[in-house]
Amino acid sequence: MAECIRTVYLTMMLLYLVLLGKAHTAQSIYPRIRLSHNELWQLNRTWVFQAHGASLQPQTMLLDESHDRIYVGAKNALFSLSLDQVNTHHREIQWASTESQIEECLMKGREKSECANYIKVLQQYNQTHLLVCGTGAFNPVCVLVRVGHTRQDKLFSLEEDSIMSGRGRCPYDPNSPSTSTLSRGELYIGLYTDYWENDGAFCRLNNQTYTRTERDDRQQLNEPKFVGSAVIPDNDDRDDDKVYFFFTEREMNAEGVNKAVYTRVGRICANDQGGQRMLVNRWSSFLKTRLICSVAGPNGIDTHFDELEDVFVLKNKDGKNPEIFGLFSTTSAVFKGFAVCVYHMDDIRAAFNGPFAYRERPEHHWTPYEGRVPYPRPGSCASKVNGGGFSSSKEFPDEVLRFVRSHPVMYRPVLPQHQRPVLLQTEGRRKLTQIAVDRVQAQDGHYHVLYIGTDDSVVLKVITIYNKDTDSMEEVLLEELQVFKVPAPIREIIISPKRQQLYVGSEVGVAQVRLHQCDLYGSECADCCLARDPYCAWDGLTCSRYYPAGVYPKRRFRRQDIRHGNAVQLCNGLQMDDEQRPRSEERRVYGVESNSTLLECVPRSLQAKVLWFLQKDEEKHEVRGDERVIMTTHGLLFLRVRSSDAGVYVCQTAEHGYVHTLLRISLHVLRGERVESAINRANEGDGEKAAAPCPFSLGPLPGPSSSPRALVPSSVPGPHSRLWYKEFLQLIGYGDAQRVEEYCERVWCSDKKRKKGKRKYVSPGGEKRGKGRREENSHRVPRQTLDA
Ligand SMILES: *[C@@H]1O[C@H](CO)[C@@H](O)[C@H](O)[C@H]1NC(C)=O
Ligand SMILES: *[C@@H]1O[C@H](CO)[C@@H](O)[C@H](O)[C@H]1NC(C)=O
Ligand SMILES: *[C@@H]1O[C@H](CO)[C@@H](O)[C@H](O)[C@H]1NC(C)=O
Ligand SMILES: *[C@@H]1O[C@H](CO)[C@@H](O)[C@H](O)[C@H]1NC(C)=O
Repeated sequence: MAECIRTVYLTMMLLYLVLLGKAHTAQSIYPRIRLSHNELWQLNRTWVFQAHGASLQPQTMLLDESHDRIYVGAKNALFSLSLDQVNTHHREIQWASTESQIEECLMKGREKSECANYIKVLQQYNQTHLLVCGTGAFNPVCVLVRVGHTRQDKLFSLEEDSIMSGRGRCPYDPNSPSTSTLSRGELYIGLYTDYWENDGAFCRLNNQTYTRTERDDRQQLNEPKFVGSAVIPDNDDRDDDKVYFFFTEREMNAEGVNKAVYTRVGRICANDQGGQRMLVNRWSSFLKTRLICSVAGPNGIDTHFDELEDVFVLKNKDGKNPEIFGLFSTTSAVFKGFAVCVYHMDDIRAAFNGPFAYRERPEHHWTPYEGRVPYPRPGSCASKVNGGGFSSSKEFPDEVLRFVRSHPVMYRPVLPQHQRPVLLQTEGRRKLTQIAVDRVQAQDGHYHVLYIGTDDSVVLKVITIYNKDTDSMEEVLLEELQVFKVPAPIREIIISPKRQQLYVGSEVGVAQVRLHQCDLYGSECADCCLARDPYCAWDGLTCSRYYPAGVYPKRRFRRQDIRHGNAVQLCNGLQMDDEQRPRSEERRVYGVESNSTLLECVPRSLQAKVLWFLQKDEEKHEVRGDERVIMTTHGLLFLRVRSSDAGVYVCQTAEHGYVHTLLRISLHVLRGERVESAINRANEGDGEKAAAPCPFSLGPLPGPSSSPRALVPSSVPGPHSRLWYKEFLQLIGYGDAQRVEEYCERVWCSDKKRKKGKRKYVSPGGEKRGKGRREENSHRVPRQTLDA
């Protein structure tokens, strides 16, 4: 029996390695470090708030650093979480629709699930109050929520008497796209204002006026999808502040048929009061232009990323020149891809100060408008900076209002920094959904660290480096973090540079994740330098948080090279010889003749290339692998080890020109009969002894890889370890462990004649089957294969 389990173990291990090897090569870029949810958890790097049963609306998350809270909207509820640890001391407000509201909603023919109060708007109204709006079972409502704290307790309560209609402030439909921003007590919002979702508008509400885009004006907005918004000052004159909206819409062609989707940036003056005789309660300053994010194709035809998925406004010190990060996807049915483009305010302003777009008739092409432009320039604000001749937009001449109404589109689009995306993903099944960015000061300059959320609970931490000489972009994928246990699309990422934390929202919960964990990269200078993480540097002893000079003036020299990751140069002299290296143990591994054996070696970095050498009589030969000896991501796998394979194997990694010896393994090959008789002897004793550690065991898998190493025992499992291999089988997708067990008994254990059958599995023939499975590009082991 022990032997049976052992054989199953080796066979499964083999299959697993083959499959895993495939899974790795299928990806386009490797993260340097990949951490599963469990690993993040064990490292104390994450906390997760789970709204047991409540469905979160994580698009509405709001950071309140003055009260150390983060607020999250949900279905029929609103949560206040602790910024220190999101899963402790949370507060909750229940805010459901009334029975009669639900009944009315159902009568209108809506689904039961839609007839609830989904929070869609969540804004800091003032120091003590939040403005919260919900769909109210297709009857939007808003309310003020008291926040803050008394000496003993956190405040978090609904101001019952502040409940008001949410019409024009909140969409009716829980799935309707909307964006809002609150500035100086006024709410700016892009939304569909009506029940039927016909009227997409940009609005501003305060307690006296309601100003908006024109109704049914397809030139202003045509089937908009609202993505983001921000108030960005132009200069020190607050009357010149502009509100920017980021959205997609459809471009109409000559026949009035909706054509391509474009991403737009639109803007209005924050102090826009509309016109006096015309454009009453309508924007007198609404303009828009196209945001371009594209890559040049080989034949001169650009590939455009036109569908804006998310936008992040990275504020700078004075707030006037934030950098705008757009996450885009393609609208093409053939080509699927994602890109991140960065825009500068200078370029956005230049486009709005450039020519207006004009076309004689809808079937004509757009051209720059060359006629006379009235004064004050349409789209400008009533401010001192603009001459101070007008105290309000209500004083603007009709001619100006008429012009802005008929020419809302600018001729020039906005091109991204370096005229190209900073990040591109053109393959892979993973969808990118959200982006947040941190600006980090490193020894050799500023870097943008991008945090990109995916549709399967992962956050990618990436830096992008522009090389002027070659006019090219380098993406360095630092970490891949699986922030939730189950795969769920990430709906929001909020970053707190102050706390060095990320708050990530999905329907299943809110995860808090520390931005960096430098010691994970390794315990040597080279590990730290090769990581190229701008948060981290080698301080002479460990890889630790990097603080720029001036923060801790007496700090000794720190070694860091983000741009080149040149560990050879930086860690020169610090690098230990192989002999001195304390970790560089020489491991002994025993193989049984004709059995499979794995020489394990997993580098910490998934970006490192592993090389194997066989040392024989002072000479080193590179092991390249063949039919019988396979290089897997977990090490060197001998399908049938021979006595001539014995020797010292050296596992080396190469990364960025830096070569590193990870370990030496001396392989001893035992003759088959000897082992058999040893096992038989052991089996004659008691069962426990038979399960004792075994020479040809596969040790625990080292390194922070995604491997299920917790499941792999350090010795060959004995009869009591069956649970383990059941888990193992489930892991590789074969749920029906009992059938495998039966199969194992039948083929390998009960019948001596059948015993020969197992050869098929481990022999090259078996390997071919493994390859067949590889082509299916899947972790699953099809049932038929095991039944075959
Ligand atoms: C995580 O925190 C717990 C308790 O605070 C501590 O016992 C444990 O050692 C920590 N783990 C790591 C990897 O730091
Ligand atoms: C915030 O607004 C509410 C409602 O208008 C008001 O009662 C409260 O006093 C305001 N708080 C501050 C600090 O101004
Ligand atoms: C409405 O706004 C005006 C000035 O903007 C302010 O004086 C007044 O108190 C506000 N009214 C309410 C009910 O908040
Ligand atoms: C593995 O070793 C055992 C014990 O020596 C032997 O009986 C068996 O045939 C070997 N397995 C394979 C697949 O060669």
